[in-house]
Formats: sequence, structure tokens, C-alpha cells
Amino acid sequence: MSSEWNAEEFKNELIKLRESLHIKKHPIFDLWSQGKLSKQDMAQYVLQHSLWSSQVVNLWGIVVAKAKEQDVQNFFLENMAEEHGLVSEGGRTSTPHIEMQKKFARACGISEDKINNIEPTAGCLAMISFHWHIALGRTWQEYVAASVVGNESMEVGIMGRILPSLYNYYGYKKGSSEIEFFEEHYLADQEHGNRGITALAEYTHERELQEKCLEVVRNAVKIRWLFLDELLHGIKTN
Ligand SMILES: [Fe+2]
Repeated sequence: MSSEWNAEEFKNELIKLRESLHIKKHPIFDLWSQGKLSKQDMAQYVLQHSLWSSQVVNLWGIVVAKAKEQDVQNFFLENMAEEHGLVSEGGRTSTPHIEMQKKFARACGISEDKINNIEPTAGCLAMISFHWHIALGRTWQEYVAASVVGNESMEVGIMGRILPSLYNYYGYKKGSSEIEFFEEHYLADQEHGNRGITALAEYTHERELQEKCLEVVRNAVKIRWLFLDELLHGIKTN
């Protein structure tokens, strides 16, 4: 086994891998960035996303239970509070994130009944299962690799493709409440992503664990890619 990377080197490895696999390159975002998704397609994306992402508070609670480092615990406690809209940062609003997602679906014309009774797709169930599998069965570092490196920190790049299209093709004004979900995560996840990756790099020392974290990132992205493939298939065959 090679010698371990220091924190700076490991952080660079994580970022290099994330950039090489980045989920923003998925073809569903090519269509979205060109204004080619219907309102129903966009709502389906956000609602399915909400079904697995609404579990992050439970999942981050497992990191808080497993990690002994207080700064890591504080970081996830802050994330959990933000997710539930209990705190706001940098003048941003404090709305529960699940509410932001529902608000967008309503603006896309989806009925309250459908919003509250949406069934998860097979890909969504795979995402949920993967995240619980890693959170419960692996070290806290491996779960942070899946959650922060393999998902949350990629939201910035995704939102960077979606937001211009929401303004230019779908007629939403900057700061309008219907698209709060996208604007909030564009800002919050830059900061969360950086802090999470820095903490992970600082507290992951053995080369074996560092390699395992990289492998978890690869699998987290693969699973999300498959989840998006299924949504894209639904769009093409509508
Ligand atoms: Fe969120």
C-alpha cells in the first residue's frame, strides 16, 4: 500500500475525482440548460430528488453519532438546522428545503395531492439504499465522501447549469420564491462543499481509508447517474 496523502494532497485527490466524474455532465442537464424540459419534467426531477434528499438530516445524524471530532459534529449540526430551515446564513432565507422543493413543483402546475403522494422511482430507491448502506455500515469519513463529495458539493455545478435556463427560458426572475430551491443550493453548497471536503481531508489519515473514500465517491456518482438515466428515459418516452 502506498504511503498516505497529507490533508492537502488528499483534498486535491477528492476534488480531482469529483471534477472528472461530475454529475453536471449528465445529458438531463444538457436538455435542461437548453430549456428543453417541460415543467412536468422539471417538477419530476425536483420531487424525486426531494424523496432521497429529505433523508439527509437522518443520515447526517449518523455522522454526528459516529464522529468524535467536535468541528465535524458542528458542521453537520449546522447543515441539519439549515436543511430544516431553522437557521439562515448570509442574509439568505430560512425555509425548510422540502418546502422549497414543493413550492417549485406547485409552480410547475403539479397538484398538492400528487406532490404529497409521489412514489419513488427504482433509481430513487437505489439512491436511498446506497446512502443508508454507507452511513450505517462504513466509517463516518466514507459517508461524508458519499454525501458531500459525491453529491452535495456537485449541486453548485448543477445549479450553475439550471439557473440561467430558469431565468432565460422559463421566465423566472432572480430571487423569486418559486426557484428558491435552486438559488439557495447554488450558494449554500459552495460553502458546505468546501467545509465538508476540508474536514474529510483533515481527519482521514490512513491510505487505505483514503482509497475507500475515493471508491465511495465513484459509486455515489454512478448511482446518481443511473437515477438520472431513469428520469431521462421517462422524459424521452413521454
Ligand atoms: Fe438542502
